Amino acid sequence: PTTPTPKDRSHELVVVANRLPVDSRTLPDGATEWVTSPGGLVTAMESVMRTVDSGAWVGWAGSPGEPPAPFEADGMSLYPVRLEQEDVERYYEGYSNATLWPLYHDVIVDPEFHRGWWDSYLATNRRFADSAAPVAAPGGTIWVHDYQLQLVPRMIREKRSDARIGFFNHIPFPSVELFSQLPKRNSILRGLLGADLIGFQRESDSLNFVAAVRKLLGYHVDGLTISVPGVGAAPMREVEVRTFPISIDSSAVSALTEDEEIRERARALRHDLGDPAKVVLGVDRLDYTKGIRHRLKAWGELLDDGLIDPHDTVMIQVATPSRERVEAYRQLRDEVELTVGRINGEHAPLGRPAVSYQHHSFDRREMTALFMAADVVLVTALRDGMNLVAKEYVASRPDLQGVLVLSEFAGAADELRAAVLVNPHDIDELKSAILRALAMPEEEQEEAMRSLRHQVMENDVQSWAHDFLEHLEHAGREAQAAVPV
Ligand code: ADP
Ligand code: F6P
Repeated sequence: PTTPTPKDRSHELVVVANRLPVDSRTLPDGATEWVTSPGGLVTAMESVMRTVDSGAWVGWAGSPGEPPAPFEADGMSLYPVRLEQEDVERYYEGYSNATLWPLYHDVIVDPEFHRGWWDSYLATNRRFADSAAPVAAPGGTIWVHDYQLQLVPRMIREKRSDARIGFFNHIPFPSVELFSQLPKRNSILRGLLGADLIGFQRESDSLNFVAAVRKLLGYHVDGLTISVPGVGAAPMREVEVRTFPISIDSSAVSALTEDEEIRERARALRHDLGDPAKVVLGVDRLDYTKGIRHRLKAWGELLDDGLIDPHDTVMIQVATPSRERVEAYRQLRDEVELTVGRINGEHAPLGRPAVSYQHHSFDRREMTALFMAADVVLVTALRDGMNLVAKEYVASRPDLQGVLVLSEFAGAADELRAAVLVNPHDIDELKSAILRALAMPEEEQEEAMRSLRHQVMENDVQSWAHDFLEHLEHAGREAQAAVPV
């Protein structure tokens, strides 16, 4: 980050997301340190915004209280939004991550409904909209992201009817039966329908959303185009819904594998683990949607059954700290750490882990070294919008070796058909899939990885963003053309 330079009404493209791409941390000596924010949204949008001229990003800097002044970073203007401690508790940890997150991930844990949380969600969404609206150039594009900000499109439209407004949901959109449980569900739908274009990860998410609009609001729907009645004298608008599976900066990830230092690091990682014959890897935010418990259960049973020898096969589980004050995440951490401790106590050879558990963040280069060192990557999500880890592993294997075990409940399963696809709820099936992956001959690995790489390298995050923005431009035009003169 460099000197603050606020430039109101000057940005052709404004991204609005709960988090800025960087998080501010206060060090013990009072100085501020900036670190990359967690999650797939930031991984994806950060590389998109690096290629955009005159881009802005409006979001929270990760700590409650007085936000930093707007500043420039990587050629982009960052506009921090203020969240008080109470907003963090009610809007972020509460409504976003203890109501919407579990509901939208098919109630893996019970969603909690509290009226005070809704009030905070409404007020905080308004603050994001108020921060974003003045930043866009006349006729500019405002692109709102994810479930934390579903009311923002409509709020921005009320202030900036000249702007094109897009919304992309990075997580699943639930079936209408589940969505109907949500108190204030119609306000959420109306909030989203303030956008000209609403994007989802999977076709099933788009269809779920359109079904909810038809059933709960009774609006006319033609395919994936929704007719939204105008408020007061305002004319009818058309809102387009469409599926855009998100991706990664595939060539940048692939290029890192050419770096001699990273190659050496991958070799060193294996060496530090005792040069086992096979290394199996999981990389996730420590979130109950990721199926880490199921994965560890399968792994523990394979060791108990004697089907995996801990002397020649090691598992690494990277579990990034996440939402640590939300109760379900605390419980998950306790359970995962207990299970890892138990597995290691029972099976680890002296001086070496059976499961190497890493509860912290790594930089991109170290992450690439981990992918290069892994013979098998396990993505066993019980529900996941996309899962970029699956795509990052594929992009990290230009040598065409390695096996991806992928849950059919991750959005990536729609595209990565050559992975070993599993239902992670079926522990026996998961165990067989792991054994199959560990035993897969090199030629078979090569054939599968070639097909996976074709998919990931051809469909990168730049083309995803380009596709979304191009559709948004036309969606805006059609809506304007539909206005009677
Ligand atoms: P989500 O958005 O739910 O966190 P994704 O798999 O789509 O899940 O994206 C996670 C992103 O975070 C990936 O880019 C992944 O490489 C990165 N990541 C996950 N764990 C870590 C970690 N410990 N250190 C650094 N990056 C991580
Ligand atoms: O869609 C992925 C995502 O949920 C983002 O919206 C979110 O920013 C990220 O994962 C990480 O979660 P959090 O911001 O709550 O740490």
